[in-house]
Amino acid sequence: MSARPESLADVTDIDCTGQVALVTGSTSGIGRVAAHALGRLGAEVIVHGRDRQAGEAVVEGIREEGGTATFVAADFTKTGEIRALAAAVRANTNGLDLLLNNAGGLFRQGHRVEGIERTFYVNHLAPYLLTAALLDHVREGARIVTTASDAHRGAQFDLDRVHTIDGYSGMGAYAHSKLANVLFASELARRLESAGRPVVSNSVHPGFVPGSQFGRFLPGPLSGLFRMLGGVPGTSSVADGAAELLHVALSPDTAGVSGRYFSGQSPASPSNAAQDPGAAAHLWDRSAEMLDIQVPLGDVGARRGP
Ligand SMILES: NC(=O)c1ccc[n+]([C@@H]2O[C@H](COP(=O)([O-])OP(=O)(O)OC[C@H]3O[C@@H](n4cnc5c(N)ncnc54)[C@H](OP(=O)(O)O)[C@@H]3O)[C@@H](O)[C@H]2O)c1
Repeated sequence: MSARPESLADVTDIDCTGQVALVTGSTSGIGRVAAHALGRLGAEVIVHGRDRQAGEAVVEGIREEGGTATFVAADFTKTGEIRALAAAVRANTNGLDLLLNNAGGLFRQGHRVEGIERTFYVNHLAPYLLTAALLDHVREGARIVTTASDAHRGAQFDLDRVHTIDGYSGMGAYAHSKLANVLFASELARRLESAGRPVVSNSVHPGFVPGSQFGRFLPGPLSGLFRMLGGVPGTSSVADGAAELLHVALSPDTAGVSGRYFSGQSPASPSNAAQDPGAAAHLWDRSAEMLDIQVPLGDVGARRGP
């Protein structure tokens, strides 16, 4: 039996009793394994994805291990469903201690959602909107963790590209959306700090994890090839990937750390493009415009100096 992610992250002694955790994209892969671990550690887990049957199976599995969980379905290409997910969390819990923005994918066909390229919408705008809708529900001491990827290193920040699918490249769109994840997490950290909110935000690379369902998004033969790579040296297991999330979400080593990018259970330097505070602030404001919402934590952003 492979090691549990809580052991791999050295957080088996962390007691999450009384804490509420929302793990987006926990119907499969890294999120599912992280959700199980959080359930075992005592957290009340909200499981999310589109696949209701898979979500209910995760809930049942967590309950069989003695944990507490519920499933909320939401398609991240549908603004109304993202808002409904936030509303369900607000209605059914007294607050949120862990928000793991983990749902995401790489899509072979170019497609637009509300005029925006789908990868950017699902991987960045959806967690941005969800986080904004839950900001006043997160408790003091909460940790927000966004699953990014080292794939972000292949992208330059360019918001013009998200309005078109001309010349669409699945990998290019994916890399850019993951760059947005790193910029989002660091900008959120800056704004939370400026607002005096004791809540941290970080992003994480879970490793190259062929054992998840991620390969289903890849074109034709690459999908099977991706899965076959499981167990090959240099690749990570799904438990390893989940451990990366748990390290940032729970470890005493990362307590109070905010605005960082993690890889290999250590802080790491993201690409130069991901360290540009001007790009991060621009992304923040433009994301609100694209979604037609008020800029979240907008007052502190406007007050912030250069
Ligand atoms: N695997 C890797 O090598 C790797 C490397 C770096 C980063 N990552 C990142 O890790 C995260 C988790 O991926 P994974 O490898 O665990 O893949 P996965 O097994 O395919 O899990 C993806 C999760 O996201 C959900 N999801 C996908 N599209 C969605 C949509 N439109 N609306 C709502 N939920 C959606 C899926 O749920 P439903 O199918 O139920 O909708 C599923 O629960 C992603 O953000 C990915 O970019 C993965």
